[in-house]
Amino acid sequence: MIVLGKKAVLKPQKGEALKKRSQKPNYGYVALKPFLRVTIVGVMGLLLALAGFLIDSPLSWILLLIGIPVAFVGLYFGSSYIPMHYLLLRPRYTSNMWKQVAEKEGVKYEEHLLDVGCGTGSVAISWAKILDKGKVVGIDIYGGMSGNSPDQAYKNAEIESVIDRIEFKYGNILEIPYPDNTFNTVTAGSVLHELHGDEDKIKALKEIRRVLKPGRKFITIELLRDTKMLFAMLFFAFVWKPKQYWANLLEKTGFKNVKIEEGKRYINYAIYVAQK
Ligand SMILES: C[S@@+](CC[C@H](N)C(=O)[O-])C[C@H]1O[C@@H](n2cnc3c(N)ncnc32)[C@H](O)[C@@H]1O
Repeated sequence: MIVLGKKAVLKPQKGEALKKRSQKPNYGYVALKPFLRVTIVGVMGLLLALAGFLIDSPLSWILLLIGIPVAFVGLYFGSSYIPMHYLLLRPRYTSNMWKQVAEKEGVKYEEHLLDVGCGTGSVAISWAKILDKGKVVGIDIYGGMSGNSPDQAYKNAEIESVIDRIEFKYGNILEIPYPDNTFNTVTAGSVLHELHGDEDKIKALKEIRRVLKPGRKFITIELLRDTKMLFAMLFFAFVWKPKQYWANLLEKTGFKNVKIEEGKRYINYAIYVAQK
């Protein structure tokens, strides 16, 4: 510590400064392991096909016949899902996007916001950066993604310097652990598609509407199933829904003034804004 007159200046230690700079948040990956395994099978298929191409033997045709389809299917599935889905919500890509939504929808800097299905905090932390005088709460059942836990979410919040205005806890969207009319805004980053069937989806939307203050907004982002996605993800595409599906469900649950803003990051997505 250096003392200058009446002011005390804390000089960061060299090691501490370096440590802080090298720390990066870890937002996890959904279903990373199965997709890595599929990719490895694809690479093995490629090696078989290459061997079939290079080896001069009667076996070459068999190697080619097995290797080419295995390589195609493995690399196709292994490479299409992860980048498209997981790059979509990384804060370095989305913080500007949420900032624009906040400005457009009149989300004020001192608000109390709930992020449902917050996972390791990527969306919640982006909002905490915007609401610099507000408070963000993230709830999740902490399944699905690698390293998905409140501990990891808190570590990320600390690295991103928003720890003072964010809270993470266990909570199911189907029974949100807060009283009616608690939050100014509720957000969900690619979460609703994970609920089974229309019944659970409607139940979740009713819960979100219940905890929102009257007249306030729910903002969610979902990937869109369309021809491009069907081509890119084959049967995985059926997890996601066509554009109008979520708008219809939001209206059915009693939300009004439902707006859809489409965007593209590798694949088409939509941001839905709906008012209680
Ligand atoms: C695709 S991840 C998105 C996570 C996070 N929003 C993000 O942007 O990184 C979906 C998240 O929804 C959570 N989830 C699924 N069903 C849930 C439920 N019923 N209640 C709360 N969270 C749920 C999963 O645990 C997972 O963390």
